[in-house]
Parts: sequence; C-alpha cells; structure tokens
Amino acid sequence: MFRLSAQSTRKAVQRLAVQARHQSTSSATASSMNAKNVSMAAAGVVTVGALAYFSMESVDANMAADGLHPPAFPWEHKKSLATFDHAAIRRGYQVYKEVCAACHSLDRIAWRNLIGVSHTEAEVKAMAEENEYTDGPNDVGDMFQRPGKPSDYMPRPYANDEQARAGNAGALPPDLSLMIKARHGGADYVFSLLTGYQDPPAGVEIREGLNFNPYFPGGAIGMARVLYDGLVEYEDGTPATTSQMAKDVVVFLSWAAEPEMDERKKMGMKALTLLGILTGLSIYLKRHKWAGLKTRKILYNPPTPKKH
Ligand code: HEC
Repeated sequence: MFRLSAQSTRKAVQRLAVQARHQSTSSATASSMNAKNVSMAAAGVVTVGALAYFSMESVDANMAADGLHPPAFPWEHKKSLATFDHAAIRRGYQVYKEVCAACHSLDRIAWRNLIGVSHTEAEVKAMAEENEYTDGPNDVGDMFQRPGKPSDYMPRPYANDEQARAGNAGALPPDLSLMIKARHGGADYVFSLLTGYQDPPAGVEIREGLNFNPYFPGGAIGMARVLYDGLVEYEDGTPATTSQMAKDVVVFLSWAAEPEMDERKKMGMKALTLLGILTGLSIYLKRHKWAGLKTRKILYNPPTPKKH
C-alpha cells in the first residue's frame, strides 16, 4: 500500500517536472521570438527614419549660414524632351562677354565649342581673332603673340589667382565653366544670386567691400551687383532687363556646364523608341510562338478493350 502510493507520487512529480520543463522551453522560444520581433521593428524604424532624413531637402537649414533656398524656376532646358534655348545661349554669351568676363574665366570652353550652338563658324573665327594669344616657341626659341583661332580656349581676365584676388578685395572670382553643376541649386541658385542683391536688413552688418545677398551662404558676397536694366543691348531686340540678362547668362552657363545635353536627350529618345519597338516586337513574337503550346488540348483516349 505504502509502496504503491510512493510510486504514484514519484510518477506525479516526474510528470510535473516534465510539464515544467516543457513549459520553460516553450516560453523561452516565445520570449526569443518576441525579442526578434522587437529588433526587426527597431531596424525597420531606423531604416525608414534614415531614408526620410537623407531624402529631405535641407529647406529648414540655417538660412544665415547656408543661404536662402532659391525657388525652383521653370527652365525650358530642364524639361525631359526640350533642348537648350539656343537664342538664349547666344544672348547669354553676350552677357558673359560684356559683363562677367571682366572678372570670371571660362576655362573649359574653346571658341570652336560655340560653332553651331550659338554662332556660325565665320562669327566664331572673327571673335577669336579679336584676342591675342601667346604661342611658340618659334624657330629661334622665342614666344610670340598671334591672333586667336577657334581651337583656342576663352581668354582669362587675370594672369593668375593672386592677381584676381588683388583685383577683387581678396575674393577670388571662380571659374564659371562648371558653376551650374558646382553649386547646390544649380541654375536656380545662380539666377537667384544675380537678381537677389538688396539692402541688408536692420541689424545685419556687412563688412566694407562685401555686399548683402541672402542667397549666398553667409549672406555677404565679394561680388557686387553687376546686372542692371539696359546694361547690354541685345541684337535680337529682346529688352535687356536684369532678370532677362540673368536668365540668359544662366542658360549660357548651363550649356557650358553640360554642352552634350541636347545630344544626350536625342540619344535617349532614340534608345527609348528603339527599345520600345523591340519590346513590342518581342512580346508579339513570344505570344505568337507560345500560342500553339498554350492553347493546345491534350486528350487521352484510353484503349478500348478489343471485342472478340
Ligand atoms: C567685378 C568683378 C565681377 C564681375 C563683373 C562678376 N563677378 Fe561673379 N564674382 C566675383 C567675385 C569676386 C566672386 C567671389 C565672391 C566671394 O567668394 O565672396 C564672384 C562669385 C561669383 C559666383 C559664385 C558664387 C558662389 O556661390 O560661390 C557666381 C556664380 C558668379 N560670381 C557669377 C557671375 C556672373 C554670372 C557674372 C556676370 C553676369 C559675374 N559673376 C560678374 C566678381 C565678379
């Protein structure tokens, strides 16, 4: 009797132990599952947060330090199917030549680059010849001066950076060839900069020799306002307002920064058209080839037992 009860108690304890062990293992998996879910969710939140952070424009950045964010202007050449406005490039070149070239170089543009873009070959030859270039050495080892050729690059206003700084109260007028690509905001920024000069607001001190421009990071720029209504006389009769000249010179500089844009868009159009036709053809051909297979019906006729 006693032995029996002892045995059954032992069994019961064993059962309990097994149960407990089972429970503990299952709850362990459950808690590890929970931890996994929590870490997955945390990783998700971090990823979404990082994406949002990096894709946001810094519009709410410190305006005084980073400059006022320029508005987005509807540039014709930024439309995906549009080319540059070549009349604007021609006018913009005139503004660069008559205004900006006094201080800014345009090192990456040669005279020949203008041929067929804004000027004819004869015009470009004549414009290049107006400039003297140092060439040589000649037979006796001396450098000599000669008139420019279309293969020469645009002349620089200053012999070196030191001279450029000395002529502009210590500020270096940067080369404008790639300016549109070099600045955040590109064409919008340069247009806003050229048209954004104004009196400094109350309480803002601008050092002697600097000028207030809210679009320039820091607000104080070494370049004074250079464009004023009627400064140049366009040969096509376009009224030379400040904003018109700014727009034209920005279109010219956009071309200078990306002379291959028209060609690039044309190639893109050709490629897309061709690939579109080929895609249509291959879809048709695929369906044509597969039609027989897809619509066939497989029948099984069981052999009929032969009648004797
Ligand atoms: C009198 C000389 C002078 C003339 C003319 C001039 N600039 Fe400047 N420009 C400067 C100087 C100096 C700087 C450098 C300013 C600085 O770093 O504070 C500058 C800077 C610039 C910048 C760069 C701003 C930046 O974000 O760093 C652009 C763009 C620019 N000029 C465009 C033009 C254009 C376009 C014209 C013609 C319409 C022009 N400039 C005419 C002297 C000139």
